[in-house]
Amino acid sequence: MIYLDYSATSPVDKKVLDTYNNVSVNFIGNSNSLHKLGIEAKKLENEATAQIKKIMKLKDEEVIYTSCSSESNNLAIKGVALRNQKKGMHIITTNLEHSSVYGSISYLQTQGFEIDIVKTNEYGLVDLENLKELLREDTILVTIIEVNSETGVKQNIEEIALLLKNYNCYFHVDATQAIGKIRTDYTNVDLISFAAHKFFGPKGIAVLIKKKNVLIENLIHGGKSTTKYRSGTPALPLIVSISKALRIIDENIDIYYNYIKELNDLLVKGLKKYKNVTINSNEYSIPHILNISVINIKPETFQHALENYEIYISTQSACSANNPVSKSVLEVTKNEKRASYSIRISIAGITTVEEIDQFLIAFDSCYKELNIGWFMRLIRVSSSWCVSCIITKKAWDELKEIYDCIEYDYDMDEELLKNYNVGNILPVIIIEQNNIEVKRIIGEKSKKEILEIINNIGVKIWKK
Ligand SMILES: Cc1ncc(COP(=O)(O)O)c(C=O)c1O
Repeated sequence: MIYLDYSATSPVDKKVLDTYNNVSVNFIGNSNSLHKLGIEAKKLENEATAQIKKIMKLKDEEVIYTSCSSESNNLAIKGVALRNQKKGMHIITTNLEHSSVYGSISYLQTQGFEIDIVKTNEYGLVDLENLKELLREDTILVTIIEVNSETGVKQNIEEIALLLKNYNCYFHVDATQAIGKIRTDYTNVDLISFAAHKFFGPKGIAVLIKKKNVLIENLIHGGKSTTKYRSGTPALPLIVSISKALRIIDENIDIYYNYIKELNDLLVKGLKKYKNVTINSNEYSIPHILNISVINIKPETFQHALENYEIYISTQSACSANNPVSKSVLEVTKNEKRASYSIRISIAGITTVEEIDQFLIAFDSCYKELNIGWFMRLIRVSSSWCVSCIITKKAWDELKEIYDCIEYDYDMDEELLKNYNVGNILPVIIIEQNNIEVKRIIGEKSKKEILEIINNIGVKIWKK
């Protein structure tokens, strides 16, 4: 099995799991309890929190524990908006955000908030001049993703934060794909979201870091916790685990970065040679995420073909895989076709060179199997009948085993393919008699179906 979907989620580190088990068994108190067990739990929680702040070089910020980054994003965006609406109802964001940011913002729009989308340049980077133009007296929040989950494009958060320092609005950064992969100075950022499961921590724990002076409305009412902003008994084993996972990844962050860059270079070199492959990630992308398009092959088809080799990659990001066009890839490439056929390969420090080599071998096979740039008049039927197919290489090889086949042209005309709305495999079967077309069957067909069609023609087909 080769896992190349680390940006969707990562397996938990065994050392982190040991910590989780240890804390679950040995620190049973509720950190809000006033007895000895509660005090012990609270002490451990405070140590874990202090460690997170130390690693992130933060001082006065409050660490609010949540269940996932989606929750952190909701709390940051809705929390700021609902608490500060008397000051203003204007929010600025980008076209590169995670759906939990769009979801929060869409909700706020229904409540009368006004949203502006800042422009990006040809690399998908925020246009600072446009951001300045959009900022208003009543702007209460700017929310910007640090590393885009699909293309890996990284915004210059320090520069944006410095600019926003001169304005009277809060700056929230969704750093979910950045933490554990790169280091950033968040000194001038007001709110930061990230989740443990992206850097070998357990699922179910995330944080929203908030500057002390930032006012937000809590979304959960009632209940008690260490913070008034997010109630619920503190999940101590998970809190200690996120802190530990962050410490472990942080110790290796630079070594991993350089190593992952080498793996990414190998991938790009191997994939660049294909005519129908475009690389959508660019020089501003972090090496952990590589987005490519295999033009004319549905991303799901390619994903499943790789799955046959036990290789796991992603179509768009796991959370937006149902949209036919990737909004993020469109924003970065400004090309609709590339945005419709994009897949994401994401690598981590535990990925090996052998895995990348095996991936490239499997990719080659899938590409050849699925590539529809083949036209073959293939089956000799009788002197007057003929069956032609636009067919994949793999299906062709299989049919050749059974039928007496003749190969004609190989390279399908691009224009002709467009007429058939190609994008799937085996889209057209044409049956002719005396060189005159009598039947045309269009649509994705499996090998079994194609054989049935051939067998049902009612004419003698010469089998080998
Ligand atoms: C940039 C970004 N933000 C937020 C999320 C949501 O994370 P979670 O699944 O922890 O809610 C993701 C998940 O992929 C993400 O990539």
